[in-house]
Amino acid sequence: MMIIAEETSFDEAEIFELYDSVGWTVWTRDIAKVCRALANSHLVLTARDGDGRLLGLARTVSDDEVICYVQELLVGREFQGRGVGRRLLEHLKERYAHCRYFVLTTDHESTPDGPANHAFYRRLGLIEHHEQGLSAFGLPVKSR
Ligand SMILES: CC(C)(COP(=O)(O)OP(=O)(O)OC[C@H]1O[C@@H](n2cnc3c(N)ncnc32)[C@H](O)[C@@H]1OP(=O)(O)O)[C@@H](O)C(=O)NCCC(=O)NCCS
Repeated sequence: MMIIAEETSFDEAEIFELYDSVGWTVWTRDIAKVCRALANSHLVLTARDGDGRLLGLARTVSDDEVICYVQELLVGREFQGRGVGRRLLEHLKERYAHCRYFVLTTDHESTPDGPANHAFYRRLGLIEHHEQGLSAFGLPVKSR
């Protein structure tokens, strides 16, 4: 059983456990900041099991008209490969179907996590910017 829901308040310990399970140390270093970021997001979607256990989470930054930016989609290490990520992303794709741009940033294919993430996003129908004559630019990220 999996329950997908929008949530607006966040428990630091529970969020820490989820982010820690996927090794996102830049995030777990300041979990209060992560919880503020979640609270300030356009939408936070959670996946929970029948006992209320947090399986995964996705959040968006959006104007709800033109663009939806998916910032963070993660599934707890022990719950990966069971369709949780698909359910979260499919829900977001429908929710923001009216937006021209549905975009996200993920690690390059040449990095350790790249191939798995790319396979997942491609399976869900997403393509890279360069494949449609687009490029993404950003200031250099200070720390990883
Ligand atoms: C990437 C991630 C979100 C995928 O979520 P998940 O719940 O494990 O993926 P799902 O079980 O929903 O898989 C969905 C589809 O993608 C495919 N897929 C997932 N990982 C894959 C891989 N490593 N190689 C090939 N295909 C893969 C599955 O086969 C599945 O296909 P199907 O539904 O047609 O059978 C999850 O593994 C994760 O949180 N990883 C760590 C954090 C991270 O790196 N997040 C993304 C970076 S922004």
